[in-house]
Amino acid sequence: MTQLFDDWPDPYEQWFQTPIGQLVYQTELALILDQVQPQAGENVLDAGCGSGIFTAPLIERGVRITGVDLSLPMLSRATARLPQARFAAADIGKLPFADNTFDKCVSITALEFIEDAEQALGELFRVTRPGGKVVVATLNSLSPWAARRHDNAKQDKDSVFNHAWFRSPDELLALTPISGETHTAVHFDKHCELAEAKAIEQQGLQQQRNDGAFLIGSWIKP
Ligand SMILES: C[S@@+](CC[C@H](N)C(=O)[O-])C[C@H]1O[C@@H](n2cnc3c(N)ncnc32)[C@H](O)[C@@H]1O
Repeated sequence: MTQLFDDWPDPYEQWFQTPIGQLVYQTELALILDQVQPQAGENVLDAGCGSGIFTAPLIERGVRITGVDLSLPMLSRATARLPQARFAAADIGKLPFADNTFDKCVSITALEFIEDAEQALGELFRVTRPGGKVVVATLNSLSPWAARRHDNAKQDKDSVFNHAWFRSPDELLALTPISGETHTAVHFDKHCELAEAKAIEQQGLQQQRNDGAFLIGSWIKP
């Protein structure tokens, strides 16, 4: 079955090669690593792994990765990039793994494309072992990036963002009764000059602002 992201591997990766795209990537990766704290030998699920651009740095840190995604073109890019990892076509809302399988579950900017986000998050908790960590990143509805994505999508009926549900930090935490914490990054705008973008980001992080475009929630499974 054709999936929403089947045409994405090239444009998605090309955008991350632009100067501002590289800054976004580095900024997001720093927050992901800070929250996931990957340790060598851990068994980690990357749910909605896409082409594996954020999976790769986890593997570099010695983590054993299982990646799942609904899009076969995205998965085939991930498999070519990371032959040492295990990948499978699966829906985050119905994961083909036993309870308590993983030390940690990570999902980067996939949740916003899933209608039943509570079910999806519930699945991530189910397959994480007690004491393990669930880390979910999504586009922050408090950020100007979300408003722009919605506006652009109105002009383009094929945009994937016509099928997206953006959330605020409180809305992300409200998806589960388990208490968690949120952080945000990418406080600068897409059209900023690089130097300005770096300065804005530093300030946003120092002030612990909650309106960065990249919203991350993390929870320890009880
Ligand atoms: C914006 S991409 C992000 C990919 C990757 N995590 C990254 O950050 O580069 C969103 C990915 O989530 C996948 N996805 C969306 N809904 C999904 C679902 N219900 N189950 C599994 N994957 C899903 C899409 O196919 C796509 O590859």
